[in-house]
Amino acid sequence: MQAVVLVGGQGTRLRPVTYDIPKSLVPLRNRPFMGYMLDFLRSAGLDGAVLSLGYLPDPIQAYLCDKQDLGGFSVDYAVENQALGTAGGIKNAEKYLDGDTLVVVNGDVLTGMDLARTIEVHRASDALATIVLTSVEDPTAYGLVEVDHEMLVHRFIEKPAADEVTTNLVNAGVYVLEPEVLSMIPPDREVSIEREVFPELQESGRLRAHITSSYWRDIGTPRSYLAASHDVLSGAVGAREGFEYLDVDPSVELGKNVRLLPPVSIAEGCTISALATIGGRSSLGKGSVVGEGAVVEGSILLDGAEVEAGAIVRGSVIGPRARVGNNSIVRGLSVLGAGCVIGEGNVLDQGIRVNPGVVVSPRSLRF
Ligand code: GDD
Ligand code: MG
Repeated sequence: MQAVVLVGGQGTRLRPVTYDIPKSLVPLRNRPFMGYMLDFLRSAGLDGAVLSLGYLPDPIQAYLCDKQDLGGFSVDYAVENQALGTAGGIKNAEKYLDGDTLVVVNGDVLTGMDLARTIEVHRASDALATIVLTSVEDPTAYGLVEVDHEMLVHRFIEKPAADEVTTNLVNAGVYVLEPEVLSMIPPDREVSIEREVFPELQESGRLRAHITSSYWRDIGTPRSYLAASHDVLSGAVGAREGFEYLDVDPSVELGKNVRLLPPVSIAEGCTISALATIGGRSSLGKGSVVGEGAVVEGSILLDGAEVEAGAIVRGSVIGPRARVGNNSIVRGLSVLGAGCVIGEGNVLDQGIRVNPGVVVSPRSLRF
């Protein structure tokens, strides 16, 4: 059985990180998200995947070309010239599909659910499509799904308004589809599976659901990306084989009296100066630099990021090659784009987003 993985979106809510890195390649514990996705599909016994690409396709293909050992798991690429939406992206992948039952996954979902079991449940039913459901606190950011006690879908409302919320169950972005569903999708135009195809299937009474209570998270916002990173570092989800809470590459240079509080992941070529603290659930990408006495806590530093002496970074994402100046504070879900420079003595907070390459003068921002 094959999967279509939808990875063509622009990752708007994760900007400025996604100006440079497609959402499917953002690292979790220094491994691109796509690695976890492939593990998920392979462990369910699937034979291959077609990646439905649109925005920034090249780095995704380059990542997969580098991967030698996929153990017979095939990977094909369907690249769209213009955004075709979540159903259009599946239709565009049709030429690589074998005409059998297929799995579709949103390419930004990190989950420990039992996909093989969902496939079994689907096969044992008369459904044309089975949607996996998970329960969330606030369904308004998702596709709300109402089901009856036999798991027949009664209503699918994408991004419901607050007064439309009648359940906590939402679309987990994992589907099993019969090939007939592909013929319902008009070719060569933007089509949404959530807004067009699922409501039509629901009306025909052939749309069913399967609830998972396993770990599940959409990594598409700074808050959820950081939370997913924390969860992978703590071992709550992801590969268990060879898992270490203190995941420090042997090439890392550690100064005197550096405090490393696990779980942390520090990739090759990083330099951590004396008296710095790398607090729990942080990950530092290749070649990152942390200056004397600086503190990095619960944060993600992407490759080549620099936190200068005396600076504090908490619960934030620092883009590739971005620099946090001496004694600056970056906290509260701040996100810095690639190569931006935060001059010394600034305070960034409250989810501020600094675009790639922007230079913030010393002591100009304070919350
Ligand atoms: N190929 C292609 N083309 N892929 C696309 C396109 C497109 O035009 N638009 C979006 N995608 C991909 C994204 O890259 C992402 O992996 C996936 O489709 C879902 O898009 P998001 O933009 O992340 O959607 P969402 O998170 O707001 O909502 C979706 O996921 C929720 C679960 O996380 C919906 O399916 C909701 O119903 C669902 O609850
Ligand atoms: Mg999403």
